[in-house]
Amino acid sequence: MSTIQIAIDGPSGAGKSTMARRIAERYGYLYIDTGALYRAIGYKILARGGNPGDPADVLPALETLSVTLRHVDGEQRVFADGEDVSDRIRTPEVSMAASAVSAIPAVRAFLLELQRELARKQNVVMDGRDIGTVVLPDAPIKIFLTADAEDRARRRYEELIARGEAVDYETVLADVRKRDYNDSHRAIAPLQQAPDARRVDTTGCTLEEGIARIGAAIEEMMADVG
Ligand code: DC
Repeated sequence: MSTIQIAIDGPSGAGKSTMARRIAERYGYLYIDTGALYRAIGYKILARGGNPGDPADVLPALETLSVTLRHVDGEQRVFADGEDVSDRIRTPEVSMAASAVSAIPAVRAFLLELQRELARKQNVVMDGRDIGTVVLPDAPIKIFLTADAEDRARRRYEELIARGEAVDYETVLADVRKRDYNDSHRAIAPLQQAPDARRVDTTGCTLEEGIARIGAAIEEMMADVG
């Protein structure tokens, strides 16, 4: 039986995960957050006292590391070496570590087949940076979701404050810019719009407006899939 994939790529903080989760609910597809996989690796390298940007620290770790996803009542949990790290990978420190490890080709190769395998088994909404370009180039539905850096930093700042993290807006904005730069300038699988992806810009949109935009784009593309 063939499966259908909805690929949603874009920079950090564009609202990808919230919107992708809602789209997955609407169609009854499984939502897969691929950033969590890179975060799990970044977390493990930090936990071992390593430098996530240094292949000399990261490559040996990959030889023994196991990263898996499990879905409990449709909710994704990510495990590193059997430990559920889903909550611990959401800090600004792990965000930067994830961005650093994601530039290492061996890390991307390590996660590629895992992601493809997940999409072979069921209909999925998969979000990330290179889903439409590299992981699932044949996905019939591709969205490139974006918004201005200031807008994305504001959302991330509000999220972190709501979670009780002590952050200031300027630092969050600088982090967003740095990650944008890293993610779109790395040599392998950089963040870029697939030629056949629909671009959806949510600058200035509320969450509901953003969801309406992405939902309309997907509905049109679904009609073509038939
Ligand atoms: O989506 P996120 O913020 O959780 O992603 C964390 C980091 O992982 C991000 O800086 C870039 C990287 N990433 C990637 O390179 N490719 C993906 N498909 C998903 C995430």
